[in-house]
Amino acid sequence: MFVSKNLSVNEKGHLTIGGLDTADLAQKYGTPLYVMDEDLLRENCRSFKQSIDRCYGGKGLVCYASKVFCCKEMYRIMMSEDMGLDVVSAGELYTAASVGFPMEKVCFHGNNKTDEELSMALEQNVGRIVVDNIFELERLNRLACERGAKANIMFRIKPGIDAHTHDFVRTGQIDSKFGFALETGEAFEAVKKAISLEHIELLGLHCHIGSQIFDIDPFVLAAEVMMNFIARIRDELGYEIKELDLGGGFGIKYTDADSPVPYDSYMEKVSEKVKAVCAEKNLNLPFILIEPGRSIAGPAGITLYTVGGIKHIPNIRTYISVDGGMGDNPRYALYKSKYDFVNALRASEPKSETVTVAGKCCESGDLLGEGAPIQQTEEGDIIAVLATGAYNYSMSSNYNRIPKPPVVMVKDGTSRVIVKRETLEDIVRNDI
Ligand code: LLP
Repeated sequence: MFVSKNLSVNEKGHLTIGGLDTADLAQKYGTPLYVMDEDLLRENCRSFKQSIDRCYGGKGLVCYASKVFCCKEMYRIMMSEDMGLDVVSAGELYTAASVGFPMEKVCFHGNNKTDEELSMALEQNVGRIVVDNIFELERLNRLACERGAKANIMFRIKPGIDAHTHDFVRTGQIDSKFGFALETGEAFEAVKKAISLEHIELLGLHCHIGSQIFDIDPFVLAAEVMMNFIARIRDELGYEIKELDLGGGFGIKYTDADSPVPYDSYMEKVSEKVKAVCAEKNLNLPFILIEPGRSIAGPAGITLYTVGGIKHIPNIRTYISVDGGMGDNPRYALYKSKYDFVNALRASEPKSETVTVAGKCCESGDLLGEGAPIQQTEEGDIIAVLATGAYNYSMSSNYNRIPKPPVVMVKDGTSRVIVKRETLEDIVRNDI
């Protein structure tokens, strides 16, 4: 009935998440409110891990792409699920270190890591630094040399694949700020150089072809391109690449228009391809890493808002104004991303209205959705936006000096705050 399976309706007709009444949560913690369901998060982690076990003999590591939603408790949960992490900044790395995350399971990404970030990664003994460009390779070699250390690296490669997704999140093709191009020979030269550097240990290759992808084919093609490159490196340089990181990008259901493929079938097809190329070219099976983000956290989260007012503009549209908006969810303003809206107090009723859901920022583009079906809605009602667990809290801002909402985790019929609501005092904390 709903886009995520952890949502249901109780006897009062209220929307529930993880069995808890969303109206009660809104009352207890106030709105806007992010709510995450721990069981679904854990289940999503396990389904990726099980697919590697089933299809690839467990020879791999699932790294949660923490840019989708990063906080200490999230990392504790990932740690207890035996996951790896993809981090992209000193901030994410610091958060991981602050909960004692095992650093050998961390991959450090980014197209322009600063010297401070690279030094921090070396200091923390991060398992894999994913080097994006030749400048970074040289700087990392120098920084590792200064410490008398050796940096374990992967190279980010552009496999040149168009994954038919939103332009802003398409990163596999040659015109991208990320990584080394294969077509131009840039990637091959970088591998040659890395092998020659004393303080660099080249472990593997990485690619990430985009996000919110529903097709399996581009993933299989990317795996094939990467495996062929690994074979070429072995043939021409006599060097064995032991690891292959295939990134994230698995699509989720935001509305009924989306039909994600079961994750197991990605792994099945990708593993088949990797094994086939290894057999054909007589290569050892590489250790595989994947970096799902959205598909782990997205479906597990919802956001609750209170309706402040409703404007019916005859023959034009109806605006429903909520107490959050682009500050806590900029995805509609940025990408026109579609969401499913539910009146949490009338969740079992049919969606009889079509509305524009507007945020409270001083900006006409501050909308959460247009042409959105919803149940009959009045001032004071609680509205839920579904599947907001990914790229919402992590992309939130204090635009208009609006404090960020808290994040509440539900599990076993209870709820707990995992990120506190910002206060007005927090808003001025760094002002001099
Ligand atoms: N690995 C790398 C290297 C990435 O760049 C990303 C996402 C992921 C993994 C995780 O991809 P996922 O499984 O979540 O699709 N802010 C945009 C999405 C940006 C994607 C950035 N990279 C959005 O809200 O749709």
